[in-house]
Amino acid sequence: MDKVLIIDFGSQVTKLIARRIRELGIYSEVLPYFKVKKEVLTSNNIKGIIFSGGPRSVNLKDSPKLPNFIYESSIPILGICYGLQLIAKKFGGTIRLSEDREFGRREISVTKSSPLIKNVYVKGKKSQVWMSHSDHVENLPKNFERIASTQSCSSVIIQNIEKKIFGVQFHPEVSHTVGGAKILGNFIFDICKCKKTWNMKSFKTEIIQKLKNTINDKKVICGLSGGVDSTVTAILLDQAIGKNLKCILVDTGLMRKNEVKTIKELFTKVYEINLKVINAKKTFLKKLKGMTDPEKKRKIIGKLFIRIFEKYSLDDKNIEFLAQGTLYPDVIESVSNMEDKSVTIKSHHNVGGLPKKMKLKLVEPLRELFKDEVRILGSELKIPDEFIKRHPFPGPGLGIRILGEVNEKSLKILREADDIFIRLLKQKKLYDKIWQAFCVLLPTKTVGVMGDNRTYEKICVIRAVTSIDGMTAEPYIFNKSFLQNCSTEIINNVKGINRVCYDYTSKPPGTIEFE
Ligand code: XMP
Repeated sequence: MDKVLIIDFGSQVTKLIARRIRELGIYSEVLPYFKVKKEVLTSNNIKGIIFSGGPRSVNLKDSPKLPNFIYESSIPILGICYGLQLIAKKFGGTIRLSEDREFGRREISVTKSSPLIKNVYVKGKKSQVWMSHSDHVENLPKNFERIASTQSCSSVIIQNIEKKIFGVQFHPEVSHTVGGAKILGNFIFDICKCKKTWNMKSFKTEIIQKLKNTINDKKVICGLSGGVDSTVTAILLDQAIGKNLKCILVDTGLMRKNEVKTIKELFTKVYEINLKVINAKKTFLKKLKGMTDPEKKRKIIGKLFIRIFEKYSLDDKNIEFLAQGTLYPDVIESVSNMEDKSVTIKSHHNVGGLPKKMKLKLVEPLRELFKDEVRILGSELKIPDEFIKRHPFPGPGLGIRILGEVNEKSLKILREADDIFIRLLKQKKLYDKIWQAFCVLLPTKTVGVMGDNRTYEKICVIRAVTSIDGMTAEPYIFNKSFLQNCSTEIINNVKGINRVCYDYTSKPPGTIEFE
């Protein structure tokens, strides 16, 4: 299979490059820059190399660099942002901090044609790209040509045709760059001469085989949450190791209304999977008592999950692995494969929330994928739509949707409100148009009036966002009467809430969950 190697310098969107390459039908692998060894190039069928962006400046003494053999391999190279600057510096150019930093959408002017932008950008015309940089190439290295520029950055696209080395200052992997995917396509097909050999079907076969090889005759426990990720993980494992898979559903008490019952029914009706439900409500609530800090709450919940899995695994000494449906956005926001060289946004409980020492080894077959890719894989596995189309639900559950301390009373209030909101969405056939919708309970109270009485109750926030992969999100725009109806239904039916607000925040600057 033809492969493209993506060398990661710590950009938050590196895996988007991998995803775009997969969408074009080519297999790609992401490798942190400090793990690049000579064998990588000799033992694999690598047809092209892409350098990602990164947060550092190439001018710093200890900035990430690459060994010479990468540049001497005669495999075509495309540098993106930091990657372009690294190439320019390596071949003798100079890099400078710009007075006018460029973030977001920018217009570029194309001055020369290039195979990289063939049928995408036209010489003499302007095009829209997405930038995120402070440094820029001030002087081009010898034997490199300038293809495009902006007002404040003269080398936005550069090339050395003979060496088949190209660089772009903008991010072609980001959807706001017009024609970005086509540029990556030109690189991998016309310049690297890759042949399309990757698709979700081949990925499924490959991943099942990998799971068989890793797990062998050992047993695996898999935590089910009822979301699409853990479901797809369980079905992959079912196909790989059959009876050696034990699924566990931990009832944390932080689940939505009727959630445990629904998951149990779905799983036992459709599949013959060995499923055990563990009631741990009391333990979770006890440990969360008095806790208000989001990161502490996440870590407590993550740790408890693992301790429960470990306790359960003691029943059978052949249980050696714990499977989780961790996705790429969970990984990049929690920790990174850059070993502390990128920034932690929040500790998703199945990644950054895990205790440092664990008896069980982790298997995370979806770690490279985005949610919509997992849904395609789910269809490939013939998982029914009722599983695949469910909105994502975070591992820490309502624990991170009740801001401040989590207790039985707040859980009951939030469960009822959430149930009403989701029911109304389904009634109006809006559920499938939305990436994720839920209610959040704020710890503050407001004054209201019901009948002739004063009320002093909590605020419920309605959150509904559209997104492709959970990395960025936009608020869903409801019509006024729908929101009014939600507010009335919730306040009339849920004792403990006297005000409903709608959250209009995108991600970034917000995140999807509140904590
Ligand atoms: P944020 O809040 O980081 O969420 O914008 C992005 C997506 O991830 C989900 N999420 C989690 N999923 N464990 C999970 O399995 C977690 O700890 C976790 N935290 C957030 C969130 O619901 C959204 O879909």
